[in-house]
Amino acid sequence: MISLVSIILLLHFLFGNAALTFNVIKFGAKADGKTDATQPFLRAWASACNSMVTSTIYVPKGSFLIRFAEFRGPCKSAIKLRIDGTLIAPKDYRALGNSGNWILFIQVNRISVIGGALDAMGDGVWKCKKAGQNCPVGARSLTFNWVKDAQISGLTSMNSQLMHLVINSCKNVKVSNVKIIAPHDSPNTDGIHVQSSTGVTIKNSVIKTGDDCISIGPGTRNLWMEKIQCGPGHGVSIGSLGRDFNEDGVENVTLINSVFSGSDNGLRIKTWGRASKGFVRNIKYQNIVMRNVENPIIIDQNYCPNNRGCPGQSSGIKISEVSYQNIQGTSATQVAMVFDCSSTNPCRGIKLTDIKLTYLKTNKAQSFCKNVGGTSGGVILPDNCL
Ligand SMILES: *[C@@H]1O[C@H](CO)[C@@H](O)[C@H](O)[C@H]1NC(C)=O
Repeated sequence: MISLVSIILLLHFLFGNAALTFNVIKFGAKADGKTDATQPFLRAWASACNSMVTSTIYVPKGSFLIRFAEFRGPCKSAIKLRIDGTLIAPKDYRALGNSGNWILFIQVNRISVIGGALDAMGDGVWKCKKAGQNCPVGARSLTFNWVKDAQISGLTSMNSQLMHLVINSCKNVKVSNVKIIAPHDSPNTDGIHVQSSTGVTIKNSVIKTGDDCISIGPGTRNLWMEKIQCGPGHGVSIGSLGRDFNEDGVENVTLINSVFSGSDNGLRIKTWGRASKGFVRNIKYQNIVMRNVENPIIIDQNYCPNNRGCPGQSSGIKISEVSYQNIQGTSATQVAMVFDCSSTNPCRGIKLTDIKLTYLKTNKAQSFCKNVGGTSGGVILPDNCL
């Protein structure tokens, strides 16, 4: 009896891999950086998405001008998007305007994005915002919404208008060997933002940008980060959380074997000073090197920009079981370790083990504790204030 599987295997044998590779050039894309390649890319996507067997969309060397592009699933099989070239956004930032996203994958399962570079040409919109003009909000460079079993590997993202890479409402996404680059003063250019997602891993990545290297929003669970180089940037931040009263918590987040250089923060947890049902628990930081970092360790539960909507309130976010182990290096400010927790919901179960942070200028750093409890072991420098 001939099964469906053997028919598929036979087809695979007859047509080889060539039949399953959709080269965007064949769909009319030009690698000249000038001809709009959006529709050819979307046509290649439609073919891949309809394929009964795993297929590859191939983007060869050269630059491809892409406007707002939505790659929508569900698709019939796994898709690999292999990029040897660079995708560039229109030079005039008004072309992406208020679309919010530049390249968007939505409701796709089993997608891999391998290699390639993205240049969102953010310079124009940053300048517009700095000049305080009436500017479009801009676009996130690469967004995954409701994506499952995905991989992003070997990708470079440059000059995003807003966040570089967003993983929202996803399950099982592996990010590795990515490089993120934007100037230290480019506004809102978070490197990787994870939110409402479970089972995301980020490994072996270098992030130099103008906002958080990695920002972790409500509803993040089982996030693993390893061998991250951050700086310039605003550090690895859980938060801001507690903007809303009904908000999902953040739990089981690990960051290990990572280096921060010249960043505004290192390990940061930041919550609004207002009522919320959210929480942060089971967080582990281990083997982290700080080089000239302004706030190497900081929990700040008093975030209230412009003193609007929260003056005099305390944070409802419950922070517990946060462990810092083997954190070493230099602080660019005197107070190297800050636990400024909520008066109504003190931080509990903070655990410090082998902390050695010195202040660049005087060598002796300080710590600050408010509404915090926990335990410690090993050497603790600056002085343990728990
Ligand atoms: C915590 O997250 C890791 C992945 O980072 C996962 O392997 C582990 O099973 C999770 N633990 C729990 C209790 O869910």
